[in-house]
Amino acid sequence: MIKPVKGFSKLSKEEKVSWVVSSFFKENPQAESIIKRYWNDDHALQQLHDEFIENTISNYYLPFGIAPNFLINGKLFAIPMAIEESSVVAAASKAAKFWLERGGFKTEVLATTKIGQVHFMYTGDKQLLNDFFTEVKPKLITDSKSITKNMDKRGGGIQSIVLVDKTSVLDNYYQLHCSFETLDAMGANFINSCLEQFAKTFKREAKSFERFADHEKDIDIVMSILSNYVPDCVVRAEVSCPVSELNEDEGVTPNEFAEKFVRAVQIAQVEPYRAVTHNKGIMNGVDAVVLATGNDFRAVEAGVHAYAARNGSYSSLTHASVENGIFKFWIELPLALGTVGGLTNLHPLVKLALEMLEKPSAKELMQIVAVAGLAQNFGALRSLTTTGIQKGHMKMHLMNILNQMGATVDEKKLIAVYFEGKTVVHSDVVSKFNELRGV
Ligand code: MEV
Repeated sequence: MIKPVKGFSKLSKEEKVSWVVSSFFKENPQAESIIKRYWNDDHALQQLHDEFIENTISNYYLPFGIAPNFLINGKLFAIPMAIEESSVVAAASKAAKFWLERGGFKTEVLATTKIGQVHFMYTGDKQLLNDFFTEVKPKLITDSKSITKNMDKRGGGIQSIVLVDKTSVLDNYYQLHCSFETLDAMGANFINSCLEQFAKTFKREAKSFERFADHEKDIDIVMSILSNYVPDCVVRAEVSCPVSELNEDEGVTPNEFAEKFVRAVQIAQVEPYRAVTHNKGIMNGVDAVVLATGNDFRAVEAGVHAYAARNGSYSSLTHASVENGIFKFWIELPLALGTVGGLTNLHPLVKLALEMLEKPSAKELMQIVAVAGLAQNFGALRSLTTTGIQKGHMKMHLMNILNQMGATVDEKKLIAVYFEGKTVVHSDVVSKFNELRGV
């Protein structure tokens, strides 16, 4: 068992690596060189990455890929994706090409309001608290002017502050429920700074509110924090075409394809076990673009899944219909994204990703990300309802299996040719590999 370590963050990077190696890898002579092999020779670039977090010992690579041919509202995009799962970029590209020939994706931002809350406890007269809130509300806003002035100038800022009585769910619990427009910023720092200022002003002013009794003057601020649940920051993306144009080559007629596809979506709407996997596939596309563009995928994940459960039962994020011979497939996604601030101005690959997307506004990025999610879901459902998922998955996974076995470049080429048009099964790959090596 290892011992607790004091002052780890104060050690140099070399010293941290030594501690890790001596604590965990006494029997692994390669560990140190593996950790250091991922260090970048460009000192400034390495330092930039070292300073993103505390206690960096190395870099953790993910593939950075491109899914081209996305036609969105009549404009072509090549979408950057950072993801390790082998089939995601391939599936996105395939879906993009399919819809390129059928009018492309249509998108629309429905709303962009974000939420933050000051959570506090108050024991006293409710009407008095309401009166105090009405009196102090303008001060909450003026006291935050130094934080909000730039955002205000650009047309964003605080939209509303509402006092909410939550005492029916938790004794003495109230909140200031606040909404914000943060334009091209994801807004976490802006919102949290405003909330902390609201809390300070609220507490200070309560102390001198003459109508409060002494115990009422002592408002207990528990915390001030934005919410990653953003049901009013929502984007919609859609594809549609005549059913007759769904001419798949997988041995099903366009009508059968459309019918089965709509069924698959309906199943995800009513069956949570399926909905989770269905939405996971959507997040394959969403997270990959969110990561490549330097956004916070944990925030997006948390918000999206809460939204998927907003009606009391976890359900599909996508919808599909066939009406009057037209197949329609769409998604509505809550997305709090930024194209300024955070990693967007710092990480060289993130900057390139945003440049490839022609420096989108946050609203434009919401639309691109929603399209990536919809395309991914289209690809998954198309495979699931026709050939099954393993055909495409295992084809893409073939290289991972061969790399694990230490296949050479020539062996990989030969085996890839052998499996063309065949279903890739792990044990068959091992047999073929052994046969090649004469084992
Ligand atoms: C795998 O990463 C994603 C899928 O399971 C999604 C789905 O089932 O819809 C293929």
